[in-house]
Amino acid sequence: MGKVVIYGAGQLGVMAADILGQGQDMTVVGFIDDDPCQAGREYDGLPVLGDASLLPQLRGQGVDGAIVCIGNNSVRGRVARRLVVMGFELVTAIDPTARVSPKARLGTGGMVATGAIIALHSVLGDNFYLGPGAVVSHDVTVGNNVLLSVGSVVAARVDIADEAFIGAGARIVPATMSPGVRLRVGENSVVGAGAVVLQDVPANAIVVGVPARVVRYRQPQETPA
Ligand SMILES: CC(C)(COP(=O)(O)OP(=O)(O)OC[C@H]1O[C@@H](n2cnc3c(N)ncnc32)[C@H](O)[C@@H]1OP(=O)(O)O)[C@@H](O)C(=O)NCCC(=O)NCCS
Repeated sequence: MGKVVIYGAGQLGVMAADILGQGQDMTVVGFIDDDPCQAGREYDGLPVLGDASLLPQLRGQGVDGAIVCIGNNSVRGRVARRLVVMGFELVTAIDPTARVSPKARLGTGGMVATGAIIALHSVLGDNFYLGPGAVVSHDVTVGNNVLLSVGSVVAARVDIADEAFIGAGARIVPATMSPGVRLRVGENSVVGAGAVVLQDVPANAIVVGVPARVVRYRQPQETPA
C-alpha cells in the first residue's frame, strides 16, 4: 500500500494518522472532512485537504488507500462503501501496542487503538473501531460498523451485531457458563458507559447500568452520545 487518505479529521482520524504514521509502508497524505470549518487546518503536521469532492482527484494522484474515521457507525459504513465504489482500498490501522491474535479474523477498514486486545478465534467485520484498551476475548463475533469504546470488555461467546455502539468501560459477559450458550448484542443497539451486560440486548435498544437494563429504543438515524 502506498498513499492513504483519512476520511474524518476528528479524534478518530487523528488517532488513525498516529497509528498509520508509525508503519513503514504507507504514507498518509492528509484528511478529508466535509465540515467546512476543517478546511485548511492541520493535525500533527497533516493537512485537511478539503471535502469529499476531492476524492476522485486523489485517486487520480495515486492515493489508493483510505480509512474512514467517523464515530457514527452507520455513517462510517456508508462512507466506506462509497470509497470502495470509487476504487479505494480500505486499510486497517492497528496500533503497535495492540495485541491481535494471528488466529483472529478482521475485516477491512478497522482501527485497533493503543493497548487494545483481540484474542484468538474472534471474527470482526468491516469498519470496526476498538478504542484504547478495549478487549475482545476469544470466540467473539463482531458485525460491520461496530464501535467498542475505550476500556470496554467483551467476554468469550458474545455476538455483537452490525452497528452496535459499546460505551466506555462497558462489560459484556454471558451470565451462564453453559457450553453452547451465547449472548447477543443486537443491531444498532447502544450499551451505555460502565454497563455490565449479562443478557441479550435487543436490536435498537439503549441499555445502561449494572446489570444492564433497557432504558429506551433508538430513533432512526439517532447518534449515540
Ligand atoms: C446511554 C447513553 C447513550 C445515554 O442514552 P440516553 O437514552 O440519551 O439516556 P439519557 O441521558 O436520557 O438517560 C436515561 C436514564 O439513564 C441514565 N443513564 C444514562 N447513561 C447511563 C450510564 N452510562 N450508566 C447508568 N445510567 C445511565 C440516566 O441517568 C437516566 O436516568 P433517569 O431516567 O433515572 O434520569 C449515554 O449516557 C452513554 O452512556 N453514552 C456512552 C458514552 C461513551 O461511552 N462514549 C465513548 C467515549 S470514548
